[in-house]
Amino acid sequence: MGGANSKTEAVCCKTEAAMAHEAKGAAISPKKQHFDDIYVERTPVAFKTRIMDSLDYVCDNYTKSEFERQGLIEFCAGVQGGCKFLDLCCCFGNTTMALVHGMSVAEIKANWADDEACKKVAKPRLFPATVTGVDLSASAVAYGQSAGLYDTGIQCDLNKWSAAQQQAMGALMAEQDVLCATAALVYLELTFNLADPQLEQV
Ligand SMILES: C[S@@+](CC[C@H](N)C(=O)[O-])C[C@H]1O[C@@H](n2cnc3c(N)ncnc32)[C@H](O)[C@@H]1O
Repeated sequence: MGGANSKTEAVCCKTEAAMAHEAKGAAISPKKQHFDDIYVERTPVAFKTRIMDSLDYVCDNYTKSEFERQGLIEFCAGVQGGCKFLDLCCCFGNTTMALVHGMSVAEIKANWADDEACKKVAKPRLFPATVTGVDLSASAVAYGQSAGLYDTGIQCDLNKWSAAQQQAMGALMAEQDVLCATAALVYLELTFNLADPQLEQV
């Protein structure tokens, strides 16, 4: 997240909640900026002002365009019984808003303008779906559920799984129609190589 003009303010102004979040598992990576104090807020308003506004974070517009270009809205709409959609490292749900609700960055920003506006999602889902949000931040997951973005919210540290948790998450992922993970994998200690050509076949 961020770019050449990215700010490092969040890194040096950690709240206790942010430090707890970090201690829980948000790995420090030299490749990635850290906004842990924002992820543990009760609402997405700081995410909107300090990331989307200040850093001109427009990633969701690209993700949305690519989702549309690949025909994935039609795919999701055609899933019998509703599309099972899982957003990994979902945070407050900006990716879900872009892909499941078809919202642009401008629309997400308007929806997250303040504590009142963000209580409900401004646009309905584009297709029948059961959405699961998975993230380290309990407050972000709780927000997503209360706003109606996630039907199911799972708070967990994806870098610290017991064998049983791994098995349960593996089974849950296997039953999804769509798995998405944006601005996410860099936080995770992956046990596979993303450059592995065999992955393209999956
Ligand atoms: C940059 S945000 C991504 C939000 C959204 N998907 C996007 O594209 O903007 C990264 C998210 O990863 C979560 N995260 C970091 N480390 C994690 C871990 N070990 N397990 C689960 N989630 C983690 C953070 O809490 C944060 O919500």
